[in-house]
Amino acid sequence: MVQAIGIDIGGTGIKGGLVDIQSGEMLSERIKRSTPEGGEPDDIVDVVRSILGELDEHAADAPIGVCFPAVVRNGRTMSAANVSKRWIGLAAEQLFERALARDITFVNDADAAGYAESEFGAAKDVDGLVLMTTLGTGIGSAIIYRNLLVPNAELGHIDIGSKHDYEKYASNLVREKKELSWKKWADLLQTYYETLERLFSPDLFIVGGGVSKHADEFLPLLNLDTPIVPAQLRNNAGILGAAALALHGSGERRTEGAEHLVRETNERAPSV
Ligand code: BGC
Repeated sequence: MVQAIGIDIGGTGIKGGLVDIQSGEMLSERIKRSTPEGGEPDDIVDVVRSILGELDEHAADAPIGVCFPAVVRNGRTMSAANVSKRWIGLAAEQLFERALARDITFVNDADAAGYAESEFGAAKDVDGLVLMTTLGTGIGSAIIYRNLLVPNAELGHIDIGSKHDYEKYASNLVREKKELSWKKWADLLQTYYETLERLFSPDLFIVGGGVSKHADEFLPLLNLDTPIVPAQLRNNAGILGAAALALHGSGERRTEGAEHLVRETNERAPSV
């Protein structure tokens, strides 16, 4: 059995678990804590350290993958939509490695979720272009083409019509805060997915995030040409993907100036 630890840092919660990378199954219980108020770097690092402390009983030497809700380039967090602005430009991977005294693999949270779906879930062996979106505190996105992950797509922040930064209108957090009915929310999502459809012509949409367990309430209300399905791994996708990437390597090319373009994550991808 090949094991790795995945830690999924979100704007609202931080989750972790030990994973079997071959089957994609959780080997430990899922440990969950609230994201500290303000989302400051040191506070988040402390929570991750304590989650790891609990998991380490199971696997002291397992590789660790950490995913985070920001653009991640060369180990640095380059944005901060739902966490402290101090993350912008921070050498985050290094910060975690020093605090945990271990090497980690550090990636965007939606990329981790998309990678997990392509390895173990709804995007596995889909021959074409998959757009994974996570509807949570914000809207995360991952672009997967024939099992190859194109990192750092930030499609939650697009402007549609007069609506600037669409996640501010249509994330699950906004649905909860404004107490939108499923129908009202689905109308906003209809516009969102229609726009993505027009821009990308995907073969499949996958909808993740905690709310995907209520997919029956809102996905049938959408009218799209592209099939749209809930994430199979539900809310564990971030943990599973971070753990899998820790083992397979995020494959980022760090030296050639093209590091943001493609992670060579998957040997199955054919050359085009
Ligand atoms: C962030 C993304 C993240 C998404 C989901 C957005 O606000 O910009 O990087 O993937 O939220 O957490």
